Amino acid sequence: MTSTKRKPPPPKKPPQARDALRFSFGLRLGLAFVVAVVAYLFTNGANAPNRPAFEVVRIPGKGKGLIAQRDIQQGELLIREKPLFRVPSSTTESPQQLVWKLLQATSAEGQAAFWDLSYVNLPETVTQRDHVALAIFETNAVAAGQQVGIFPGMARLNHGCSSAFNAVYTWRESEQMLYVHALRNISKGQELLTTYTDTKRPRNERRAFLSSHYGFECTCAVCSLDNAGSLASDRRLTSISEFYRYFATWGNGDITGVEAIEAINNIWKLEEEEGYWSERGRLAADAVWIAAAHSDFSAVRSWARLAAKWYTIELGGDSETVLEVVRFAANPKAHTAWNSREPLPVGGPWPSAG
Ligand SMILES: *[C@@H]1O[C@H](CO)[C@@H](O)[C@H](O)[C@H]1NC(C)=O
Repeated sequence: MTSTKRKPPPPKKPPQARDALRFSFGLRLGLAFVVAVVAYLFTNGANAPNRPAFEVVRIPGKGKGLIAQRDIQQGELLIREKPLFRVPSSTTESPQQLVWKLLQATSAEGQAAFWDLSYVNLPETVTQRDHVALAIFETNAVAAGQQVGIFPGMARLNHGCSSAFNAVYTWRESEQMLYVHALRNISKGQELLTTYTDTKRPRNERRAFLSSHYGFECTCAVCSLDNAGSLASDRRLTSISEFYRYFATWGNGDITGVEAIEAINNIWKLEEEEGYWSERGRLAADAVWIAAAHSDFSAVRSWARLAAKWYTIELGGDSETVLEVVRFAANPKAHTAWNSREPLPVGGPWPSAG
């Protein structure tokens, strides 16, 4: 047996801390997808929508937003966009100057799209263009690999919490391109919503964060639940986060593989009840890791199939991450973690996990 003691990747990235020396760009936290760096040719085929899926409209109280112009299928590719520009996630340079310099280097069209975006957290007395540019950047930028990028098209997506968001974005390093996919079926006329932060936490915490970072009071379907509904949702979301922290301790050998898989199944059940569908590919892929480490051949297979299904929805069927889990479903022993812990039947997905 080898002693590969790698933990499953942590479930979420902590927010970027600012410190005195280095300036860290504020950013919307992307979902913690692992996207392999592989030379890969994108073929725009099956998912290419025949009609534009959405239009940009003014939404009262929210500025602009994206509304579905037709019914959209779960997993459909909604946006594929190059960054207008990217910056390192932290810099010792003046951030205003950096953003200004990169912005000036873009096309007139790109600059117009940039200046059309909204911003928060800038006192009205500050009117210097480079300060406004930085505020726009910080309000709209998203994680793009090791860097932070601005994508004027994607930036139009408004926010929803928990079961309220229906679109997810991911950066493909190999293509230097941001992808947005539909997480659910979306009906004509519905607003497309993504999530700006990890919303697996209670309503008061979510609202406080969104208000201080993005300057709005969240009125999404989950934040608008009545008290009883909201309390039940808060309890589920808090529990989900606790189970995430718990199963991650398998990485240090604090819990057994069976306990780790049980925790993953508990997360799945709670998320089913909550209607939280995002990050399931990642969750199942973590289960694949645990099952492979304990040499549970059939569990690797079933978790890998589940991971492939949900990664396909969130990342696109042609993503390298999907191809990788499909390989593990076919050949569990090919997994890096195979047989790195004591052999143990850890178990497959909860029977209703689909
Ligand atoms: C999405 O809609 C299709 C039909 O258009 C349906 O077959 C499918 O079950 C729906 N998926 C979900 C997750 O509701």
